[in-house]
Amino acid sequence: MELIRSVAEAQARSDALRAQGQRVAVVPTMGCLHAGHLSLVEVARRHADVVWLTIFVNPTQFGPGEDFERYPRTTEADLDACREAGVDAVFLPPVEEMYPAGAQTSVDVSDLTRPLCGKDRPGHFQGVTTVVTKLFLATKPTVAVFGEKDFQQLAVIRRMVRDLHFDVQVVGGAIARESDGVAMSSRNRLLDPATRREARVLSLALEAAERAVAAGERRHAALLHLVTLELEKAPHGQLDYAELRDPESLEPAPAELVAPTLLALAVRFEAGGGAVRLIDNRLLNPHPSPEAPPCS
Ligand code: PAJ
Repeated sequence: MELIRSVAEAQARSDALRAQGQRVAVVPTMGCLHAGHLSLVEVARRHADVVWLTIFVNPTQFGPGEDFERYPRTTEADLDACREAGVDAVFLPPVEEMYPAGAQTSVDVSDLTRPLCGKDRPGHFQGVTTVVTKLFLATKPTVAVFGEKDFQQLAVIRRMVRDLHFDVQVVGGAIARESDGVAMSSRNRLLDPATRREARVLSLALEAAERAVAAGERRHAALLHLVTLELEKAPHGQLDYAELRDPESLEPAPAELVAPTLLALAVRFEAGGGAVRLIDNRLLNPHPSPEAPPCS
């Protein structure tokens, strides 16, 4: 497995691979890899000949008082996991390489970044879109894979790629979950055992909403009420948001659900050194397609 630390080297390697007709897929991460990240490597493998993973804890997407310093850094274990997963190269740039002294350029997607996670985290998505642009320009991928766990991030990146004519195919990977249903996240390990158990409320709330929709519930307010009741079962959790929105425009869903609708949740848990914010989401489908008849 190759280790690449400079932008120039990444560009030269990618150019050489593309000149040989190879499709390069990139999986951008901030490290502290878990099975969720590695599931994206699998997706990447299905779309390309060569899979690169990037590890860069991006300072510009953390606001003041957020957990940039506390963000877990486990580089050696990450590299082992990449080797085991068959990653071909890891791009691991130092901060000065990604943000040269005096850098003053950023990329901003407007409306999609305002609601949900953008509301309480001003500048967060600008940090994400700026660094993803830089990562794309450094690694020059054919395909880039992002997790559906960060649904808004995926929507924002798709929008940016369309708006700026990036020649990159963006592919989403399904949410990988722990055995108790909690979405895998590098932040789960910051929770103490009791709070970690409470974190189940997010996936339980999503399931409750999904069951209600399957049983015929279409009312926006009734669904949110149900979800809130589930989330309130976590005494150490504080609701950041629970919202129903259009999965593409992220506009609020209508009073009655008529089309596939994003249910997005964020809950803040008190943990030793500060708050840990967990997110999860599900697409609720009021008109699921009838099951295909079994093959005879
Ligand atoms: P990070 O939080 O490390 O996540 C890297 C990628 O893994 C993202 O695309 C995220 O959606 C995906 N991911 C995380 N948990 C997942 C899970 N349980 N199942 C499936 N995919 C999961 O997201 C970022 O880093 C950064 O914002 C980044 C895009 C790298 C820009 O800095």
